[in-house]
Amino acid sequence: WEDMEPIKRTELVEVDGIPCLKDTADNWQRLWAFKARPDDLLICTYPKAGTTWIQEIVSMIQHRGDPQKCDQAPIHQRIPFIDLFPPKPFPHGLDEAEVMPSPRTLKSHLPVPLLPPSFWEQNCKIIYVARNAKDNAVSYFHFHRMNKGMPEPGNWDEFLENFLMGKIAWGSWFDHVRGWWEAKERYQILYLFYEDMKEDPAREIRKVAQFLGLQLPDQVVNQIVQHTMFENMKVNPMTNYSSIPSFIFDQTVSTFMRKGTVGDWKEHFTAAQSEWFDDACLRLLGDSSLVFRTEL
Ligand code: A3P
Repeated sequence: WEDMEPIKRTELVEVDGIPCLKDTADNWQRLWAFKARPDDLLICTYPKAGTTWIQEIVSMIQHRGDPQKCDQAPIHQRIPFIDLFPPKPFPHGLDEAEVMPSPRTLKSHLPVPLLPPSFWEQNCKIIYVARNAKDNAVSYFHFHRMNKGMPEPGNWDEFLENFLMGKIAWGSWFDHVRGWWEAKERYQILYLFYEDMKEDPAREIRKVAQFLGLQLPDQVVNQIVQHTMFENMKVNPMTNYSSIPSFIFDQTVSTFMRKGTVGDWKEHFTAAQSEWFDDACLRLLGDSSLVFRTEL
């Protein structure tokens, strides 16, 4: 890494009114022109909603529960992240995706209006995972603290205000979860919830397999449940992002695999902040059929 320029905390730049990391905005035309293929599978989430977890589940399903096949490369290499443009010498997910043989599995955090149109044109299968706003906000705050490529989060109160206003990378959580919820009426989208995955991972793994046209024996489902448990993914170098150097992901500040629970927001939110979020959910999602659980 000696030749690398020092990592600087980035600014946000809007694309069609949605705040993006500056490097994403700078590469916008290329990203927008991305050519999806009909047999691509896209994993899409708001950041910190359980992306890595669903990625490893999908990877295990694709390898019929064989952990050795998953262990051949870190998760971010197996499933390129198309809307991230890290500094050199790190590869761009878009470059990796373009040379990847089909069938590809790709990762994105893009909200519906910013997804490259070829994904819709090709009617690609998409798996979306949503997580309740409060836990999602806590997780995103700690991720900003440890990831030196993200904007400065400020203190918790400041971050929370920005989260609520949608003034953070990949934009408003509310617009994101709602946009994808509505898109699933028109496209092949499996919409999952982090809380459901915690409650009954085997059930949710079967849903994913069925969506991919596979029926897995119980024994394989159980292997996948075990392999993708938080405690196991936390110590697995192929899933815990320990391959990213510490001057980018400073895991002494906060680990990538931090807590992995439902309800950790209670350790962070004041009563007033909790009420503020409940009101915002009611106001911005109340007329949709979208319901989140903030505890199990
Ligand atoms: P916390 O910060 O609340 O612990 P993403 O992969 O989208 O960046 O999301 C990261 C969040 O998902 C972190 O949440 C992380 O701990 C949690 N996570 C990762 N793997 C998990 C697993 N196997 N089970 C439960 N949560 C998991």
